[in-house]
Amino acid sequence: MSEEKDVLILSIESSCDETSAAVVKNGRQVLSNVIHSQIDLHTLYGGVVPEIASRQHIEKINQVIRKALLEAGVTLDDITAIAVTYGPGLVGALLVGVSAAKAIAFATGKPLIGVHHIEGHICANYIENKDLEPPFHCLVVSGGHTHLVYVSDYGSYEILGRTRDDAAGEAFDKVARAIGLGYPGGPKIDKLSDEGDPEAIVFPRAKMADNEYDFSFSGLKSAVLNYLNSCQMAGQEINRADVAASFQKAVTDVLTDHSISAMKRMGLDKLAMAGGVASNRHLRASMKKACEENNIKLYYPSPIYCTDNAAMIGVAGYYEYIKGTRSGYDLNAMPGLKLGER
Ligand code: KG4
Ligand code: ZN
Repeated sequence: MSEEKDVLILSIESSCDETSAAVVKNGRQVLSNVIHSQIDLHTLYGGVVPEIASRQHIEKINQVIRKALLEAGVTLDDITAIAVTYGPGLVGALLVGVSAAKAIAFATGKPLIGVHHIEGHICANYIENKDLEPPFHCLVVSGGHTHLVYVSDYGSYEILGRTRDDAAGEAFDKVARAIGLGYPGGPKIDKLSDEGDPEAIVFPRAKMADNEYDFSFSGLKSAVLNYLNSCQMAGQEINRADVAASFQKAVTDVLTDHSISAMKRMGLDKLAMAGGVASNRHLRASMKKACEENNIKLYYPSPIYCTDNAAMIGVAGYYEYIKGTRSGYDLNAMPGLKLGER
């Protein structure tokens, strides 16, 4: 009997402020996952500066790719295909990864596979949950996206709900800035909330009349800003930990309620979470409790696979590879790429 050959994907991610490359074996085994974060650079400006991000990606991309191959103990000869994030994201940042991937694919003659960034976030769940297989629901909550997705099969996605305005992570970052915590705000609010009372201030939880699974966080953000303003005008001291904890609870309640009601409506019993905000401890605890009460099995990746990384792109790239997806050398960065589009 002939042994099946291992499929090794070299993957590249550069859609925002992380330059990352990974080697993933047979879709679920991460041989290396090198991440060069630019957070320190952008912190100076209170958010990601696109031009600085692109320049940093150019400086780091070759080193990061070389290190990923080295740590995996492989050479380009061993690689089956090259996968790269081609959208959505910052166009200049995406272009660096796409150009590097195209150059390697062209020089080696190996297949090139363009991967959707959100598909990558969803697929991060396959790395540590070897038993997870579609169909399941996935709540994708990152700095740029808030989507409730029905994953009917590998590579097949149906969006049940999405944010109408700010993404969940964006709301965390904006509120953090308003209370003087700096960028990135999510982890800082997560930590400061430990010292605050989540019931101290009642912030609004938005419901959309025409699609109960859609989200809106701009009203919540404005309510926090109004609260801070009115305290300042009245000369009252602001308890930042109470603001952080109450805001975090408002976001968590909405994310949990929407996810659980979609699960119940569709009769599914597996829910996954993905994206940077999925590493929020309060959200994880709230979702865990709700899932236990409703007999739903909950999955989420370790924090390192929640925020941007190339391993998740390698996993998504593997499933696209075995489906037969191939990109041409005309693959371009698509900053506004929609999930399910090619
Ligand atoms: O997935 P990601 O790395 O990038 C995008 O694709 O957008 O997510 C980054 C976002 C940032 O908004 C950051 O503040 C948020 O994830 N984040 C968190 C936590 N860790 C990261 N938000 C809440 N709690 C956290 N622990
Ligand atoms: Zn992301």
